[in-house]
Amino acid sequence: MSGAARPDRYAVVGHPVAHSRSPSIHAEFARATGQSLEYGRMDVLPEHFVVELRAFFSGGGRGVNVTVPHKEAAFTLVDATTERAARGGAVNTIAVRPDGSLLGDNTDGAGLVTDLERNLDVTLARRRILILGAGGATRGVLAPLLARGPASIAIANRTPGRATALAATFADLGDVVGGAYGVVDGGRWDIVINATSASLAGEVPPLAAGAIDGATVCYDMAYAPDDTAFTRLARERGAGETHMGWGMLVEQAAEAFLVWRGVRPVTGAILARLRAGG
Ligand code: ATR
Repeated sequence: MSGAARPDRYAVVGHPVAHSRSPSIHAEFARATGQSLEYGRMDVLPEHFVVELRAFFSGGGRGVNVTVPHKEAAFTLVDATTERAARGGAVNTIAVRPDGSLLGDNTDGAGLVTDLERNLDVTLARRRILILGAGGATRGVLAPLLARGPASIAIANRTPGRATALAATFADLGDVVGGAYGVVDGGRWDIVINATSASLAGEVPPLAAGAIDGATVCYDMAYAPDDTAFTRLARERGAGETHMGWGMLVEQAAEAFLVWRGVRPVTGAILARLRAGG
């Protein structure tokens, strides 16, 4: 009967999740790598997260991608975490291990680093990096960014205490400081990363005058068909390059696919299509 067995099941779990690109990305990865799997969407309220996930896995589900607002809840749900998930206290990928236990991983940072270095040819080593925002998005990428050996990372945030606390958590990994806009963001930066959720509301964090010039790479973790408010502002201020987070989205997905299936899909074609507005 094994020929009639149902394909392995995966899903993206979030709230809201209707517009998630993950199902189409993973379906394309599966086709391209010849893997047989199903990948769906689970719109789950925070108060139902644990029950729904337990039901998914006891029903035979093999893995999930976790998105807003569940990444910290996922961290506490799993039986074990990878080092990169433990560092950030957040899980975006859960895999069922051979013994049935749940492994929590976080592929967001690897996705960002791969996009910057491999897709966009941006050097991180010895660069001055400014990160705007000190929420879960920043927490998830700090360790992989620091591992690339930047000269320094500054985290600026509307609520300065969150940024100083975050910087202190990662201080053993490199030169990282946190604080308020207008305080830690002085001088010019080689790379400015918007990790706030301001873009989602069409707003921009306060980008310091003089922070960017024609050699600065500006990257918004958010993405939109044309521009985000941040990439538009950065271009108006004369940034050398502006990028949205399409590549981070696709690369974190490829990394999750690797965790689940043992094969890393090629990302170029799907990324080009998403960037072109698909
Ligand atoms: P997530 O876990 O998805 O990153 P979060 O923890 O709520 O979400 O973090 C959102 C980040 O965007 C925070 O850094 C937040 O600043 P505060 O810590 O001061 O709340 C930032 N943010 C959201 N809207 C913003 C805006 N309009 N201007 C500047 N920063 C904003």
